Amino acid sequence: MLDGKKTLFSGMQATGNLTLGNYLGALKNWVTISDEYNCFYSVVDMHSITVRQDPAVLRKRARTLLTLYIAAGLDPVKNCIYYQSHVSAHAELAWILNCFTYMGELNRMTQFKDKAAKHADNINAGLFTYPVLMAADILLYQADLVPVGIDQMQHLEITRDIAQRFNSTYGDVFTLPEAYIGKVGAKIMSLQEPSKKMSKSDENPNGSIYLMDDKDTIMRKCRRAVTDSAGIIRYTDEQPGLKNLIDIYCACTGKTPDETMKEFDGKGYGEFKPAVGEAVAAILMPLQEEQARLTADKAYIDGIIKENAEKAAYYANKTLRKVQRKIGFPDRIRN
Ligand code: TYM
Repeated sequence: MLDGKKTLFSGMQATGNLTLGNYLGALKNWVTISDEYNCFYSVVDMHSITVRQDPAVLRKRARTLLTLYIAAGLDPVKNCIYYQSHVSAHAELAWILNCFTYMGELNRMTQFKDKAAKHADNINAGLFTYPVLMAADILLYQADLVPVGIDQMQHLEITRDIAQRFNSTYGDVFTLPEAYIGKVGAKIMSLQEPSKKMSKSDENPNGSIYLMDDKDTIMRKCRRAVTDSAGIIRYTDEQPGLKNLIDIYCACTGKTPDETMKEFDGKGYGEFKPAVGEAVAAILMPLQEEQARLTADKAYIDGIIKENAEKAAYYANKTLRKVQRKIGFPDRIRN
């Protein structure tokens, strides 16, 4: 609890091109709930290097992502928006928590299995202990709430297990975080293979709408989205491609699936798909414009990066020092 408010932590990787799934599953919810919490939003660049990155590209993407957080509506004065790599406490706590995490637990992580299969030539130890760094991110700020998409639930569960294990030995050091999953948009699927989640790393670019796609591209991808031959607008698991489009439409417009079915009653996919494209473009176009405007203001963004890294480090170090004392590291000598 900070200044009478509970604490919220979340983060996104600066890897690949961000998708509509990242926006609807995470960023959009962050903006909605940020006023009620003390929020820390990190650009988790340390997580990104579990997969090989081009240094110049990573640096650029990290900055784009940071400005995107602000462009989406997160006030950088009220919310602490910072680069994970600027706060060394993340790496330090991750090391300690590695010693409280079992190989068996990490072996069960589905994201590790997926990524290891995709990058068979580079199954590095960082990829394996990735969830421990994520636990460190969350626990450093004593976060009560962690807004994420459904795919991160397993990582949230292991975070709680690690925290509980540590607390049962050393007393109540860590707050046990809860996941916050939005009512709509928590799992946006690929437009081409509706059984798979929409992902930055999808080889088929038509499966994902990228946050930086122009309007023509968005419209084209929506028109080409895989549906079925039923031809009626129904929200049902039997029509997974259409269901995903309805989810996207609802998340972008604030309408419910029932309202959407009524709106398109008697109409076909030929009318619905362009409407989805328009709804997505109505969200993404202003986001892109604001992002471009902020990017041009280099001094303003630099100021935010510096101030927020200091603020994040202050809170993170408080927890880290406490943990170090608990486990028996020698006290620092002060003059
Ligand atoms: P990342 O960068 O893969 O994704 C960022 C956020 O977007 C959500 N998301 C989706 N939501 C709905 N539908 C989709 N298709 C979709 N794809 C992605 C993710 O659930 C996530 O909320 N490990 C994390 C980053 C991280 C983190 C943390 C998150 C590192 N430390 C601490 C929370 C707290 C990740 O790779 O997310």
